[in-house]
Amino acid sequence: MSVPRIAIFDSGVGGLTVARAVHARLPGAHLRYLGDTARLPYGTKSAGTVTRYALQAAAALLADGAHIDALVVACNTASSCALPALKERHGFPVLGVIGPGARRAVAASRTGHIGVIGTERTVASGAYQQAIAALSADAVVHAQATPLLVGLAEEGWFDGPVAEAALHAYLGPWLAQPGAKDIDTLVLGCTHYPALKDAIGRVATALLGRAPTLIDSADAIAEELANRLPSALAPDPAGTVELLATDALARFARVGGLFFPVDRAHLSLVDL
Ligand code: DGL
Repeated sequence: MSVPRIAIFDSGVGGLTVARAVHARLPGAHLRYLGDTARLPYGTKSAGTVTRYALQAAAALLADGAHIDALVVACNTASSCALPALKERHGFPVLGVIGPGARRAVAASRTGHIGVIGTERTVASGAYQQAIAALSADAVVHAQATPLLVGLAEEGWFDGPVAEAALHAYLGPWLAQPGAKDIDTLVLGCTHYPALKDAIGRVATALLGRAPTLIDSADAIAEELANRLPSALAPDPAGTVELLATDALARFARVGGLFFPVDRAHLSLVDL
């Protein structure tokens, strides 16, 4: 039996929420994580540029020729537009976060009205809308870009007056639109958003008049990954976590440490 080797990438530190969930679900797996901190944010860029960056990030994770059992595209933005290109290039399973998040949302919703918040690129791609429609023809998806939440999470401002004001500015007009009051399930469609989960839940509850079920795609993909790995892959009691970043290692360690225990000894700089 061999030990599962999982490669994960995101545009920055936000995907460490996915690494944390994968590590909790598969504590003995060997994880190699790349945060493309030099080029964050992905969410404001074109689909072509995000796809190019995603292919380069995957190539860097494989550069030493190490075998991997699965590649997890933690970044919602890259998952929304780069999965076909990644799957075409690589023979191992490539998992994005959109499908698992959509499946959880459809399973959780009773009203069929599902809210999705994410980056501009993720929302514009229509990826969540399509994934949810493929699972439930009756579902109604309400999607809203909330890009500033990425910066708040990167700053470690997970709650408090600034986060609260930004959430009211984004969610207030959105949830006042016709039909939006029926939303009972809200997808956190960006790796950074689980960090602001308490504030998002509180503000959404105040605006909707009841608490929506929050869908964290980090948990959803960790579970799907565990189910997808061949049973012959045995967890090693001493699983390792290797962290790569494309810029600003000190900042990566400081901010990333808010999401996942970052050991500087296992952190190195790579150039794509
Ligand atoms: N990691 C990205 C995502 O999940 C958000 C940050 C960015 O815009 O790069 O969509």
